[in-house]
Amino acid sequence: MIHAIILVLIILCIFIIYEEIRKWFISKKLRNFKSPKQAPILGAAIRFIGKTNDELIETFLNIFDEVESTPLQMWLGPMLTIGISQPEDIETVLKSEDCLNKPYLYELLKCKTSILATDKEIWKPHRRALNSAFNVKMLQNYVPIINDLSRQMVKKMEPFLGERGDLYRTIFIAQTELVGRTLFGSKLQITSERLSSLFNSLKLVMNNVQYRILRFWLRWDFVFNLTKVGREEQIPLRKLIETIDQIYEHKVKELDTLKSQGIDHLTKVAEQNATNFLERCLILEQDGIISHENVHDQMRVMIVAGIDTSSTTVYATLLLLAINQKHQDLVVKELRSIFDTADCDVTQDHLGSMQYLDRVIKEALRLIPPIPFIARKTSADIQLAKGIIPQDSMVFIHIMKLHRNPTIWGKNALEFDPDRFLPENVAKRPPFSYIPFSGGARNCIGMKYGMISAKIVLANILRRYKFTTDLKFEDIRARVHIVLELTNENPLRIDKRNF
Ligand code: HEM
Repeated sequence: MIHAIILVLIILCIFIIYEEIRKWFISKKLRNFKSPKQAPILGAAIRFIGKTNDELIETFLNIFDEVESTPLQMWLGPMLTIGISQPEDIETVLKSEDCLNKPYLYELLKCKTSILATDKEIWKPHRRALNSAFNVKMLQNYVPIINDLSRQMVKKMEPFLGERGDLYRTIFIAQTELVGRTLFGSKLQITSERLSSLFNSLKLVMNNVQYRILRFWLRWDFVFNLTKVGREEQIPLRKLIETIDQIYEHKVKELDTLKSQGIDHLTKVAEQNATNFLERCLILEQDGIISHENVHDQMRVMIVAGIDTSSTTVYATLLLLAINQKHQDLVVKELRSIFDTADCDVTQDHLGSMQYLDRVIKEALRLIPPIPFIARKTSADIQLAKGIIPQDSMVFIHIMKLHRNPTIWGKNALEFDPDRFLPENVAKRPPFSYIPFSGGARNCIGMKYGMISAKIVLANILRRYKFTTDLKFEDIRARVHIVLELTNENPLRIDKRNF
């Protein structure tokens, strides 16, 4: 027994020495990259041990502030992690063919085989095939549905008139229905209890992803599922999967019914280049290009990547407009010049006319980017101005830091000023200084959809209601579980507007 223990200890020592030498050689190449204080073996990971979810992310972001400039280098156990926040470095990484892969942490989002998480060999053909669900024609088709659901959202806010209600939850639930009706073309009536439980499930799953990211020993499902957190996730996760199954089955049944009436709906919409996301997936499944499991993962990613981000965009814009009344008045002035009534639909033409609202949303996405940082994995060495990022490193791009950098945005970087997005001002900034939807080939597939949907939703809400708050910008509190969530409790007061 003693011999066995000694042998294990010797092997462990050899492994640790080997690891430390390996790290030393790699770090030598990164001499110009700043480094926070690190411990042997665990590196910077030691700073995350025992932290709560909220503290984890704060610690991570603090490291960027601590080293003052980027690129920064740190070890999370055996994993070399590089942090960048300068536009030139970000441009190099996001445009590189060798930075198209994602690190393992994206697999934790429960959609391992979706376009969000897969490596470039699989991602490229899948992304190309799925892009058409967001083409101009489809975006136009989604406009009346978004209007319809925006009006329902306005109605659901009515009980909060004159007080502070949970508007974020209301917006989130409406966005869930929105994704269902537009991207999946679902006519399935999901009960409000189910929608509410979907909200809780999604929040829990996202929260747990963050919990696992910096506890790298939980990256394997079989280990995670043994923990209390992992076990407690099972029921809400099953509910989420069940809802997606129901939508899928409902759609397949609908198509079968049409087929029995002699209508081949999928062929018809494919010929018209007018397939929504689910129809596109079903065609790819029929053609044997993607598997049945893959369709489910692709549907799941639309929910995971589309709902939280869109809800935060709308909610953060309302909050910033409540803090900056002058800009709320200017948006409403623009809306009055375009619309005769508070209830009429926002059309494709109106979308082009709402220039000020467009700039307001962009400015909200700058100050409060729903995804404050993203990550990539390098498949080759990447040359930056200050040195080389080695192959197989994890690269974190700190979008929030980029968006608030005073050297790019001026001394008043934290002030809300939509005119930063006037074309003449955009032209003065370096490319890749504004990337709320990421950039390069692997940017957000829902970028145009997200902007259109935010504009329609906000144009409907702001014609009906006026928003005020006691908060100042510096009072805004946020939690990040991949997507940023504003945590001040019900800060928005909502009143009727005479339009
Ligand atoms: C409206 C606000 C939105 C913001 C700010 C946003 C932001 C982003 C960002 C930053 C990424 C890059 C993620 C990464 O590389 O790690 C991304 C990717 C993605 N987004 Fe969005 N997104 C939004 C809306 C949407 C919507 C509405 C959908 C779909 C319904 C969507 C679906 C996706 C998907 C599938 C990806 C992965 C794309 C790929 O890797 O090919 N997003 N988004």
